[in-house]
Amino acid sequence: MTSPMPFLATSIGFLLSDMAHIWLIGMMGAGKTATGAALAKRLDRPFVDIDDLVESQAGASVRTIFETAGEEAFRSSEHEAVAISARTVTPGVIATGGGVVLDAENVEEMRRSGEVVLLVASLGTLSSRVARAGSRPLLDGAPLDERLDTLLAERDELYRRAAHHVVETEGLTIEETAGAVEAVCHNT
Ligand code: S3P
Repeated sequence: MTSPMPFLATSIGFLLSDMAHIWLIGMMGAGKTATGAALAKRLDRPFVDIDDLVESQAGASVRTIFETAGEEAFRSSEHEAVAISARTVTPGVIATGGGVVLDAENVEEMRRSGEVVLLVASLGTLSSRVARAGSRPLLDGAPLDERLDTLLAERDELYRRAAHHVVETEGLTIEETAGAVEAVCHNT
């Protein structure tokens, strides 16, 4: 008698690949957006940036949303964008904002709909990258290194618990980082 297993395996494979987004998480300046765009190109998949989605839905920049509606309103739009992206059927590469792991429901949505990859970079690298962009309201005020250090201390455990895979990016180019993410993901 023919085993039912090949059919079962094919069905499970279909379901898995159908839900196989690649989510990139990590601190501001970890390279999520640049790596995500490069990886999407390599894999010929759609690329989604959660901050961009929030901005286009609100018709305002992240900074303006923080300043006019507050962080809570931003987090709620961010959650909506994560939930919508998680339910998109075509497997994509999705770059998140650094605070996405603060909401346990976001983590659930990401893990349920694909593989979650944490991009790790040194504080020096994070700091040199974000210093060039003034678009991050959470970095206003205190000296940059201090602020990043505090945020990392608050979030590191959340990042590590949310991630299926961790990619150390120090010394890697964007293309090399995209290759490293591709290598750790199973459903590409
Ligand atoms: C944030 C990170 C930002 C953006 C917002 C809040 C955070 O995204 O979502 O400023 O809480 O770390 P990037 O990580 O892409 O800079």
